[in-house]
Order: sequence, then structure tokens, then C-alpha cells
Amino acid sequence: MQVKDTLFEYVSPELHIEIQNEDCLSVLKRTDNNKFDLVLTSPPYNVGKSYETKMSIEKYLETQEEIISELIRTLSDKGNLCWQVGNFVDKGEVFPLDIYYYQIFKRHGLKLRNRIIWHFGHGLHASNRFSGRYETILWFSKTDDYIFNLDNVRVPSKYPGKTDTL
Ligand SMILES: C[S@@+](CC[C@H](N)C(=O)[O-])C[C@H]1O[C@@H](n2cnc3c(N)ncnc32)[C@H](O)[C@@H]1O
Repeated sequence: MQVKDTLFEYVSPELHIEIQNEDCLSVLKRTDNNKFDLVLTSPPYNVGKSYETKMSIEKYLETQEEIISELIRTLSDKGNLCWQVGNFVDKGEVFPLDIYYYQIFKRHGLKLRNRIIWHFGHGLHASNRFSGRYETILWFSKTDDYIFNLDNVRVPSKYPGKTDTL
């Protein structure tokens, strides 16, 4: 039996897809201005995973800002950027990364459209505070004239035809 990856039902066959298996900063530096309509990423959280070196939060954000400024340069005027992060935790103290990142994106002129909180039921258990069970996605656009196709992602109404309001 052939298993079909459902993702591809949503992707137009005319779409040109390229995968660049390289450091993103090197790829971005040789990419033209205004090239992308969407940047969707979950960057390292500075928590000491195998692909990152844990550093002070200030140094970490400085490193990420270099990438962010290249991403904004390569984002089209109609483009959107979605930045998915959790928390950085140092000696039990929680640093909500999206709050730190928001200042960087504002400084670069982006406009926040939604702060999406998503929840998950399982993960590491904390013993000196409640366990972390959510992450956030900051969705920004570059200008006020941005791509947003609400009809394509609408959730059907729970009570169709209901007209009275609370
Ligand atoms: C928080 S994880 C996101 C994982 C992703 N959401 C997934 O489900 O595979 C960060 C990812 O960024 C990648 N990464 C870290 N630094 C990078 C860099 N400079 N250029 C490109 N990718 C990088 C890591 O290898 C890791 O897969």
C-alpha cells in the first residue's frame, strides 16, 4: 500500500522547492532582498541542545538578531514572519523568549498580527514550579499590505445560522 503524505495535497505542483542544508546565515547572506513571502521558523532556544552552544541570554539574542535582520531584508513587502519559541530556563528562572524577541522585531519595524499560544499535554516535569506546557508563535508582517487568506483556514462555525449575541 502506498502511503501518501497529506502535506503535499496542499502544495501546488507548480511551486519551486529548494532545500539548502547549510547554516541559515550563510544562505541568507547570498539571498536577494524581498525574496520570500513567508518565513516560518523555530530557532534554537539556547537550552544546550546538541546543535547549539548555551550562552548568556544577551549574547544569544545578539546572535539571533544578526539572522533576524537578514530574514527581514529577504522578506517581501507583502510577507509574514512566524517565530516559534518556548522558554529559556537558567538556574530555575524562566525567561519567556517571545517577550525578549518582540523587542527585536519591533526595532526592525515589523508589526505583530497574532501572538499564538499552543498547548501540549506532556513533557519534562518541573518540581519547583509548574511544568511548562505551552509555547508561542509570534506572527509579524512587514507592512500593512500583507498576505492573509482567512477563508482558506476558517474553522467551520460551531453554531451555523446563530444570529443572537451574548
Ligand atoms: C528548536 S529546533 C526546531 C526543530 C524543528 N521545529 C523540527 O521539528 O525539526 C532548532 C533547529 O534549528 C537548527 N539550527 C540551529 N542553528 C542553525 C543554523 N545556524 N542554521 C540552520 N539551522 C539551524 C537545529 O539543527 C534545529 O533543528
